[in-house]
Amino acid sequence: MYRIGQEEIDAVARAINSRAFFKINSAGREVYHFEEEWKALTGSRYALLMTSGFGALASSLIALGVGPGDEVIVPAYTYIATALAVTSVGAVPVIVETDETLTISVSDAEKHISAHTKAIIPVHIQGFPCDMDGLRRLADKYGVAIVEDACQADGGSYKGKYLGTLGDAGAYSFNYFKVLTSGEGGLFVTNDRTMYERALIYHDASAVAFFGDQLEDVTQPVFGGTEFRVSDITGAILREQLKKLPALIADLHKNRDAMCALLDARLTVLPSHDPQGGCPTTLALRFPTADACRAFVSRCAERGLALTIPIDTGKHVYSNWTQIMEKRGALHPAMDPFRMAENQGLQTDYAPDMCPATLDFLARTAYVAVDPDADASTVERTVCILNESV
Ligand SMILES: Cc1ncc(COP(=O)(O)O)c(C=O)c1O
Repeated sequence: MYRIGQEEIDAVARAINSRAFFKINSAGREVYHFEEEWKALTGSRYALLMTSGFGALASSLIALGVGPGDEVIVPAYTYIATALAVTSVGAVPVIVETDETLTISVSDAEKHISAHTKAIIPVHIQGFPCDMDGLRRLADKYGVAIVEDACQADGGSYKGKYLGTLGDAGAYSFNYFKVLTSGEGGLFVTNDRTMYERALIYHDASAVAFFGDQLEDVTQPVFGGTEFRVSDITGAILREQLKKLPALIADLHKNRDAMCALLDARLTVLPSHDPQGGCPTTLALRFPTADACRAFVSRCAERGLALTIPIDTGKHVYSNWTQIMEKRGALHPAMDPFRMAENQGLQTDYAPDMCPATLDFLARTAYVAVDPDADASTVERTVCILNESV
């Protein structure tokens, strides 16, 4: 959460005062307007606002026809929700290394592509952009789909294009910790009409068939799905958040660049697949050893600056994905992808040490939060602490 205030409070009041803030009504239609405004800004052809990033990922996989018997490649460093979205549709996640940018390693992903691979989920973790050109080449070479997890990168870019718009589908999150927020929320986007129709049917299975004219022009047959529908209150908040997005991203860039310019030459900034792009919420520093990294972070803490070492971030690290590591994909055995006959023999030989390069990168990296609202002297003070702590 970055910039939220009176505008969002007024938007909530507007939605409630309409006395008709169910998404599917003919009053404010805040969700509809938000989707239209998002599409106009980012260039996606279709967008569906829903309850969560998880919902948007699951809807993407369903829309691609992913299910039992399929493998989906995910990076070893991402929030557990990415992997759980895969199991939620009956497929299994195949966990691969990240490269030194902490985003999915294209070469390790290629090593894990099999006859069962249906999709790859690149994750723009902490707003770091994945190697989307390399992934597109890989996906085309093997005929697999890309579902972009842009949940930590709302509004970020890769080579001038919005993150989330470069795959076959994209997922954003608007939970409390994200760049834009409505407390909880997520967005599914695609340029493909069939995928849009399937995600529409899946994400709002009970309302889509009964309320309004949502199935007008839809040619995909209706099927049973789930409920990830949001209310117009969510839509109203996000319309205000969206107005703030371009300036917010510009200020994140400005302050990250200012930090980099002042940084002591002995400190190493993580490489990036697009140094001018991404969603720069984080300045990441790389150290030669894990001990050197931890010692640096302690020295910063003594001077009053809290840094994060990503190996310490719990369910963002694959080795802490208990449900996946222990292969409990569902409560009911017949619904558990790890027990389904179709999934036997797939690449599910998980082990805590299976991605040593990722664990090493994560232990040697320290994150400094970028504050888009910091003034020049605050930025200078932060960098001063970093430089004094070398
Ligand atoms: C990389 C990533 N993917 C997916 C998600 C899931 O988003 P949500 O919490 O909105 O379901 C998150 C949320 O924390 C995330 O960080």
